[in-house]
Amino acid sequence: MEKEKLVGLSRHEYAPIIRTKTEQLLKSLLKKHNPKTCLEIGTFLGYSASCILNECNCTLTTVEKDAQNYADAKENLKEFSSRVEIVHADAMDFLKQNTKKFDFVFLDGAKGQYYKYLPYLKDCLNAGGVLMADDVLFYGLVSAEKVLHKHRSIAMHLRLFLQNLQNDVDFKTTIYDFEDGVSVSEKRQEKV
Ligand SMILES: C[S@@+](CC[C@H](N)C(=O)[O-])C[C@H]1O[C@@H](n2cnc3c(N)ncnc32)[C@H](O)[C@@H]1O
Repeated sequence: MEKEKLVGLSRHEYAPIIRTKTEQLLKSLLKKHNPKTCLEIGTFLGYSASCILNECNCTLTTVEKDAQNYADAKENLKEFSSRVEIVHADAMDFLKQNTKKFDFVFLDGAKGQYYKYLPYLKDCLNAGGVLMADDVLFYGLVSAEKVLHKHRSIAMHLRLFLQNLQNDVDFKTTIYDFEDGVSVSEKRQEKV
């Protein structure tokens, strides 16, 4: 799918769509882990969802709270309709009610909420599954040395998210310092 041809793109002055290196990392992780069930938080117009659906033969649940984005994503993802469920909901409401398990999660919704989503995402991730979170370094503001003025709350909550991930013995986490920062956390296999 070409970004320029996305239905709904012209409505946005700035389109917060996955960037090139992050897209490459997403695709390489999908190739490596070959997930059967994927979850995305933050659909926007459906571009990253199309990357996931093109890259592997999985089913995808993708959650979007904005009504117009949801409608546009439905159009953009028509060709994948048998494998994608687009949920029009607030991510936290969805996560609280969800009972499905996933092999791969792409987290790309409200950055200041990531730390609140984490326990729910951990619960719904299968052992050996992967949680990939975009924008975790947020314009470099998450770095501990930065003095925060603008976006203080988002940056503090992202710091907390990364600390919780890194302190969690059930996850093996790598943080990539390119574009807006990406974390990749592999949930350890259960002990036998
Ligand atoms: C960065 S964009 C997603 C981009 C998309 N993953 C891509 O790369 O093509 C974030 C999206 O999350 C949605 N969003 C923000 N807060 C949300 C929430 N609380 N629940 C669900 N979706 C939310 C926004 O409306 C926006 O469409």
